[in-house]
Amino acid sequence: MSNILIIVGTESGNAQMCADHLADNLPALGHEVEVAADADAGSVGLDGREVVLVCTSTHGDGELPDNIIPLAERLRTEKPDLSFLSYGVIALGDQTYKATFCQAGKDMDALFAECGASKVGERLEIDACTQPLPDEEALTWAQEWVTML
Ligand SMILES: Cc1cc2nc3c(=O)[nH]c(=O)nc-3n(C[C@H](O)[C@H](O)[C@H](O)COP(=O)(O)O)c2cc1C
Repeated sequence: MSNILIIVGTESGNAQMCADHLADNLPALGHEVEVAADADAGSVGLDGREVVLVCTSTHGDGELPDNIIPLAERLRTEKPDLSFLSYGVIALGDQTYKATFCQAGKDMDALFAECGASKVGERLEIDACTQPLPDEEALTWAQEWVTML
């Protein structure tokens, strides 16, 4: 059973809703869940962690939500050794943005990989255009994802 830190990047709350739904439901499967949201997501410490789940939307033209930018900048510039860390990514986006669909989730995925963290499972990409219940899709994915930890 794992201690999972969910790092939320959001502008209008959908990613937060997904994270909260996982925090409400994954403990029943025996996992401890903490959520780093708002400014805490940007300044979160990763030392001593085992499992991180990045849950982020994309805004602007393929950009990260403001609250998670400091974390991305830290990973990009400091390149900490995260080889002790397993991670997964839930990316929220909208396919009508075509070229930048889920770009922030893709960028966070690449940054964790570049820092040596081990990816677990495939990235989930949730399309706001076709999915009215992103939290349900996230939970269905996460229930499978935790079995791979
Ligand atoms: C101004 C604006 C820009 C957006 N830009 C993108 C984008 O470039 N790529 C993408 O996949 N989705 C984009 N989206 C869609 C959001 O990522 C999607 O609605 C998501 O569910 C929002 O999640 P949040 O409430 O956690 O921020 C954009 C949405 C808005 C309102």
